[in-house]
Amino acid sequence: MAVRKLAPEELQPESFVFSPETEAFAQQQIAKYPPGRQASAVIALLGKAQEQAGGWLPRKAIEAVAARLDMPPIRVMEVATFYTMFNLEPVGKYFIQFCGTTPCMLRGAGDIKRVLEKRVGDQNHVTADGTFSWLEVECLGACSNAPMVQINDDYYEDLTPENFEKLLDDLAAGRPVRKGSQIGRNRSEPHEAVNTLQDPSLYDGSVVGAWRKRFEEQAKPAETGEAEAAIASVPQEARAAKPGAGRPIESEAADTPAERVKQGETPFNPVDQKEAADPSVATKGKSHTEEGARSAPQSSKSYVASPGAGAVPSSPTTPNAGTPPAQSETRRDGSESKPGVVVDKDNMTS
Ligand code: FES
Repeated sequence: MAVRKLAPEELQPESFVFSPETEAFAQQQIAKYPPGRQASAVIALLGKAQEQAGGWLPRKAIEAVAARLDMPPIRVMEVATFYTMFNLEPVGKYFIQFCGTTPCMLRGAGDIKRVLEKRVGDQNHVTADGTFSWLEVECLGACSNAPMVQINDDYYEDLTPENFEKLLDDLAAGRPVRKGSQIGRNRSEPHEAVNTLQDPSLYDGSVVGAWRKRFEEQAKPAETGEAEAAIASVPQEARAAKPGAGRPIESEAADTPAERVKQGETPFNPVDQKEAADPSVATKGKSHTEEGARSAPQSSKSYVASPGAGAVPSSPTTPNAGTPPAQSETRRDGSESKPGVVVDKDNMTS
């Protein structure tokens, strides 16, 4: 891919003004889009400006399009330099886009390229009389008629060095030329003898429906079997959903070392061991949980979130998002603990 940049200053015209035809085209294109979306017409207007400028886009034409669409010139410049259909340097009266992609190369595009180099010169070079210039491009989508070139807006296919030289001669002399295939085939039909799709029954309607009927007959037993199997697999009695599905799992839980010991646990924390032996000397600090319990009585049950919906935090040491600042505890030194952070000494290990 060649570097795409604007033509040198010495080639740039001093001005560019929309012709009446270009202006009418611009109005028609802009009218296709809602108010304020006129920038959507940028490619169409650049194409028309290129046509008016003789097949390429001078800087002034790009700026004129930007002004007409109320766009920053750099935005239009980005479009013009991105798309290879916009020529940034002058081209010949007949601008030849030569396809150099694999299918064309396999069918002799190398010979066509040699003709261009001999007749026109290097790429992006305009002949002295201004008649021809050429550029190698990627596949133009006519591979079945390779090798081919595009000259201005038309395709010329099935090229050989001989018929291509004649084509260039005719164009240079202003003689009429044949567009499309240069060997006379209709579009992309087989090159020589027609060897496929020759069965007359394909065209007389006699086989219409025959294939479908055959498929229906073949599918019948299989379909019946599938339907029976599907019916057999459906449970005859509906089963109730699990009672606990989607609800928190409820379990008894010990809140104090004494209750834990009652339930068979052995405290391993020395403080818990002391409290378990004599609950009256409980050293457990007043936590926010306890404070909360006074204002909102809780059961001695803890809730563990079931997988999925309704998750309830089970760890009291986890900061509770959204805990109101009112629950923060004022310390003796006047400072406040962080709102929402609950410390449960039962769960602290030494
Ligand atoms: S490769 Fe040349 S047209 Fe596709």
